[in-house]
Amino acid sequence: MDVPRDGSKDRLSPPRSGDEDVQRIEVELLLEGIYRRYGFDFREYAPASLRRRLRRRMDSEQLDTISGLQDRVLHDPAVMERLLLDLSINVTAMFRDPTFFVAFRERVVPLLRTYPFARIWVAGCSTGEEVYSLAILLAEEGLSDRVRIYATDINEAVLELARLGVFPLDKMREYTQNYIRAGGTSAFSEYYVARYDGAQFSRSLVEGVVFAQHNLASDSAFNEFHAISCRNVMIYFDRPLQEHVHRLFHESLATFGILALGQKETIRFSPLESCYEELDAAERLYRKVR
Ligand SMILES: C[S@@+](CC[C@H](N)C(=O)[O-])C[C@H]1O[C@@H](n2cnc3c(N)ncnc32)[C@H](O)[C@@H]1O
Repeated sequence: MDVPRDGSKDRLSPPRSGDEDVQRIEVELLLEGIYRRYGFDFREYAPASLRRRLRRRMDSEQLDTISGLQDRVLHDPAVMERLLLDLSINVTAMFRDPTFFVAFRERVVPLLRTYPFARIWVAGCSTGEEVYSLAILLAEEGLSDRVRIYATDINEAVLELARLGVFPLDKMREYTQNYIRAGGTSAFSEYYVARYDGAQFSRSLVEGVVFAQHNLASDSAFNEFHAISCRNVMIYFDRPLQEHVHRLFHESLATFGILALGQKETIRFSPLESCYEELDAAERLYRKVR
């Protein structure tokens, strides 16, 4: 709802309509119901984007009201699964924002080399393109055996695709360009075989990867990491939830561990900002110092 951020009322604009209030309450009830029935917590997601996605699901299910959607979702797990796909926004790409991988190679890899064994958490990994990209980078740096990737997402359906590692063939031209711009040192085509239904990436890339469901909004820390990459995930969260996730990451990082947020998110304005030093301003690479 577009109320002024400071909560003041513009005397020239009409009072907020009762319909809008009812809709807001209906959305809150739906999200509360989803949380209680399925444990997925969307209660602190940014409202504007949330409403667009609920509207899309209502259209597809041919429902006119949010309470109608609530009824369907609570009684039919298949509808919940479809809604989850709408809400969890899984857009991704291999070597997305290639300069991030250049910075990761230059700034983070030398630090990873200092450990006999290191763990990286890719939080919000979607269908796995980011995980395969990192796995390729680590292989090229000779670190595959010394670094284990933990790849998590709220959505089990995307994790299933991530485990398969088959990506659309028609994306390979774009991904090859990304790979080259990301500083790849081999021929990208060495990493996959073309099949009729897609590009099957080499199983050896993800042999040591742990794929697991984890909800950043409600699940706790589960290991200590030397690096955490969480890109294009927190943009969908409101400030309190972003803060919650920053606390979770801080708790999960070893001292001198790396927080990699990518171009769209930042640790600035967080009370935890002073716990990190900046390694790369543009790619938002931070190092935990306290
Ligand atoms: C836009 S994708 C980003 C994928 C990848 N990190 C990238 O940058 O290309 C966002 C991912 O965050 C996941 N996600 C959303 N809310 C989450 C939550 N509460 N806990 C864990 N993952 C979540 C979604 O399921 C989705 O796969």
